[in-house]
Amino acid sequence: MRILVADPLAEAGVAALAEQHDVDVKTGLSKDELLEIVDAYDAIVVRSQTTIDADVFAAASSLKVVARAGVGLDNVDVEAGTKHGVIVCNAPQSNIVSAAEHTVALLLSLARNIPQAHAALVQGKWERSKWSGTELHDKTLGVLGLGRIGTLVAQRCHAFGMRLVAYDPFVAPDRAARLGVELLDTVDEVLERADFVTVHLPKTPETVGLLDADRLRRMKPTARLLNVARGGIVDEQALADALRDGVIAGAAVDVFASEPTTESPLFGLSNAVVTPHLGASTEEAQDKAGTQVADYVNLALAGEFVPSA
Ligand code: NAD
Ligand code: MLT
Repeated sequence: MRILVADPLAEAGVAALAEQHDVDVKTGLSKDELLEIVDAYDAIVVRSQTTIDADVFAAASSLKVVARAGVGLDNVDVEAGTKHGVIVCNAPQSNIVSAAEHTVALLLSLARNIPQAHAALVQGKWERSKWSGTELHDKTLGVLGLGRIGTLVAQRCHAFGMRLVAYDPFVAPDRAARLGVELLDTVDEVLERADFVTVHLPKTPETVGLLDADRLRRMKPTARLLNVARGGIVDEQALADALRDGVIAGAAVDVFASEPTTESPLFGLSNAVVTPHLGASTEEAQDKAGTQVADYVNLALAGEFVPSA
């Protein structure tokens, strides 16, 4: 069978696929280029760059499985896949530790202005008092979305002596209590209480634009916001305005409404820390994602049961 690997995949994953099937690695395809070749393939593997929408499913008459080497499935139209009888699977555990660790790295960077101080010093500026920061200890962390990554972040921040509050209507209060997290009834309550707010929601019609200008105004002027989930959940322009106008004190952002990008209203603001979607960019996470989806694709192409997304 023929497999198209349309986004960069760890070597271990490509090797596991190639043991049983013909694999073409073709990354950076435009939608037209993808539509032109997709009919030849039985399986497609993507990360977050390639979008598999209804047009792609319609053009792919041999397609049996689409695998997402990572967590978020917002770049795959799962409903269209189901309509065409195509299995859609992902690797939901593969990169959660890496994403949580990246969130904590950004949290500390934000609290202590590490990227700004580094940039100044290597440009010859010893700005010791300018980049004074704030402790995490005794501060309140607000978690929006207490799922896999939100939980790992909460556990790590507990060790810093932070108070933990969260909004996630799908989590049982006793589970939150076991984690030492106080569940609140609304997003607004979290925004009003927290010194740091961290977003770990999926991108869905309900969450797109959830943190807009009005919501940002609910936060304390000393508060800082992190988004390592998905671009678009936080309105980028509204966030940039809030940072510039002192509505909130700082933000760290790993994900953008449109990716890849080298332009954002956040770039160039001294109280914004940004990274180019690095949450899952570790050797460990990529190996796990690659080998996990390779196993699933091999199972699907053998006509066997695949744990679906
Ligand atoms: P998850 O499904 O385990 O957790 C998401 C949580 O959000 C769930 O507990 C769910 O109940 C809750 N939720 C869903 N809709 C909600 C709503 N409208 N209001 C409040 N809560 C809601 O997902 P996860 O693995 O923790 O991933 C979280 C996010 O991180 C996803 O968007 C994923 O795509 C993203 N992610 C980013 C990176 C990165 O590289 N930056 C890496 C991995 C995952
Ligand atoms: C994910 O959803 O898994 C992350 O955003 C990381 C990735 O796209 O590889």
